[in-house]
Amino acid sequence: MKIVIVMEISARSFFVSLFLLSVAFAGLSRTKTPLYRQADADIDVRVEDLLGRMTLDEKIGQLNQRSYWYSQRGRELFFPMAAAGQVGSFMNVTDPATSDSLQYMAVECSRLGIPLLMARDVIHGYKTIFPIPLGLAATFSPEMAADAARIAAVEASSDGIRWTFAPMLDIARDPRWGRIAEGCGEDPYLASLMAEAMVRGFQHGDSLGSSTSLAACAKHFVAYGAAEGGRDYNCTNVTGRELRQTYFPPFEAALRAGALTFMSSFNANDGIPASCNRQLLHDVLRDQWGFKGFVVSDCFSVRELIAHGVAADEAEAAAKCISAGVDMDMEDGIYASHLRTLVGKGLVSEEDIDRAVRGILRVKFKLGLFENPYVATPQSVKYAQSHLDAARRSALMSAILLKNDNKTLPLSPCRTKRILLTGPLADATYDQLGTWIFDGEKEHTVTLLQALRNQYSDSISIVYEPGLKYSRHDDDACIERAVVAADDADAIIVAVGEEAILSGEGHSMAGLGLVGGQSKLIERLKSTGKPLVMIVMAGRPLAIGREAEMADAVLYSFHPGTMGGPALADLLMGRESPSGKTPVTFPSTSGQCPIYYNHPSTGRPATGKEIGLDGIPEEAGNTFLGCTSYYLDAGYEPLYPFGYGLSYTDFDYSDLKLDSADYPLDGTVRASFTLTNKGNCRATEVAQLYTSDVVASVTPAVTELRRFERVTLAPGESRRMEMSFPVSELAFVGSDLEKRVEPGEFILRVGTDSRAPLSTRFTVR
Ligand code: BGC
Repeated sequence: MKIVIVMEISARSFFVSLFLLSVAFAGLSRTKTPLYRQADADIDVRVEDLLGRMTLDEKIGQLNQRSYWYSQRGRELFFPMAAAGQVGSFMNVTDPATSDSLQYMAVECSRLGIPLLMARDVIHGYKTIFPIPLGLAATFSPEMAADAARIAAVEASSDGIRWTFAPMLDIARDPRWGRIAEGCGEDPYLASLMAEAMVRGFQHGDSLGSSTSLAACAKHFVAYGAAEGGRDYNCTNVTGRELRQTYFPPFEAALRAGALTFMSSFNANDGIPASCNRQLLHDVLRDQWGFKGFVVSDCFSVRELIAHGVAADEAEAAAKCISAGVDMDMEDGIYASHLRTLVGKGLVSEEDIDRAVRGILRVKFKLGLFENPYVATPQSVKYAQSHLDAARRSALMSAILLKNDNKTLPLSPCRTKRILLTGPLADATYDQLGTWIFDGEKEHTVTLLQALRNQYSDSISIVYEPGLKYSRHDDDACIERAVVAADDADAIIVAVGEEAILSGEGHSMAGLGLVGGQSKLIERLKSTGKPLVMIVMAGRPLAIGREAEMADAVLYSFHPGTMGGPALADLLMGRESPSGKTPVTFPSTSGQCPIYYNHPSTGRPATGKEIGLDGIPEEAGNTFLGCTSYYLDAGYEPLYPFGYGLSYTDFDYSDLKLDSADYPLDGTVRASFTLTNKGNCRATEVAQLYTSDVVASVTPAVTELRRFERVTLAPGESRRMEMSFPVSELAFVGSDLEKRVEPGEFILRVGTDSRAPLSTRFTVR
């Protein structure tokens, strides 16, 4: 009996103490919020605090990114995973209600309440579509690129997206590669300025915690654009020196601008797939550059180590990628399936897992997701008038006038009363948007046909006859209908190019000519003798030499997005003057690829006196042709050089001066010159400054873009332009992989494109 009472008393006192303890804890937890939940605590402190509380499974959960499926099965699979902390990020959730519900599962139901990071490919606009990135590069306006990215971020965040897989920073010198559309072209300097601008735009400068900022992702690291033969996913063989000289700079620029994440690329460079290249992801990115965010694999690129032939199975692929520095596994779930066992067997270290988790948590803290996990931006921002205006402005600034014989453009309403508009891209609501638009809606596109009718039908009568239904279409009867319709026209506008599907990921082309019956259409229209204006909308620079020859004027518009039509209509009718410049060299034939303006000199450069196929006599002697670097059938000159683009006015460059004849290594080169608008319309020029290193310890590039500026001048106006750069920017990567400026002579040139003839020299001592 006594014993029972004692037991009861002790049991009671045990429960009483338990109750008191829990009250005390509740009180404590009210006053003592865990460090990681304290918004004002230092981010690194929060990261360490949270990391210290996580189990191995919770850590592995953060490394797992899944693509959401909108289906009952998707809900059944992914909601419990979010509640169990088994996913760190979802991609492709575009419905705010679903986004918030998933987030609720993670934040309210998982043990530690770590929010999810919602990702999407928001590449050149979300709903309001801007020109493809190659077109944005053609504006030579980093400010415009920043605005486009900012607007994309505002629209995408209104659906709960807080991470974009952009900007794409792959230097591309071979337009057969369809992904040339997604990048900024061939020049590391231009691409670097664009990279910084886009990162600033997406991430809202320093206001990362704002509900409208998206974490940027510098991709694809690295050299993916150098795919052999221009065939997507192909291997690359870029040397360590060339990586540092040409392919790294845009990524370094993105990092300088604060890019929170990087994506490892698909390609194996020199035999090592990027996703298991520790030298790249660890030694360069983290140790040398000090990157503190996280690296996501490209879609399935962990698994693809098996196809590359460098991993026997999924487990080996996972071990190689996490150890090399890929922190988050996109889509294929291999980290989730194998990391626990690999750690158990000692094949993967917990330090590598912790490194990866730290990077991911840091980004989530920086974005303010712990404080504001749910969708906050109003839905009404989509297609806001200011967004459409910016899209129109960017399309306008990116269109490049390649040819304008006899001042065919702008079309004058006095001489041109009736226009025939034809061609498969004249009214292509979908194709005009270009590649990589998951969310753009063709119902919002304003095509050239619509714009001409809406804006100019008072002054001009517009006849529309498609000629061909889409770019690959080839139908003589359809073409002839357009030719007949040209009968009454004073001028013909033919809009040709590529459907959106012909460029972008996995869409490489061996030939760069116009596809389908487009060339035939142009030839038949030419035969009418009417003034012929060719508009090209495409995802890459096409080899359109023959067609451009037939046209009187050519306006090139890399797929210009939602508001491409009004922009092109304003240019055709002279309300605005073209100001875009080629951000890539246009080859005259695909056989010239790879082709780029800043190539190293050869020991036997072409002289301009080369003999083509037609000039070779029968049984010519072996040395008859002189042995220089050119193609017998395609010469060595591109169709259009880098930086090229005409205007409705003529710009004159004169009186180039430097502030000194020589500079110390820590000096600044200051150039000045006079730019004059010699024509009779107000117009904008992209003034360009190039340098060439005359002698260096490794073969220097023949010339390199150093500075550029968009300048608007009234008719007859002259402006004294000043451009300066530190001597340190003349650095190149030496054979020891170190960057240096070597004293010696340099040539400095200014002008309207990369052939800039006005030059002077200076010496670095
Ligand atoms: C592409 C990436 C893209 C990812 C996610 C991959 O196939 O290479 O650029 O971000 O898919 O959609």
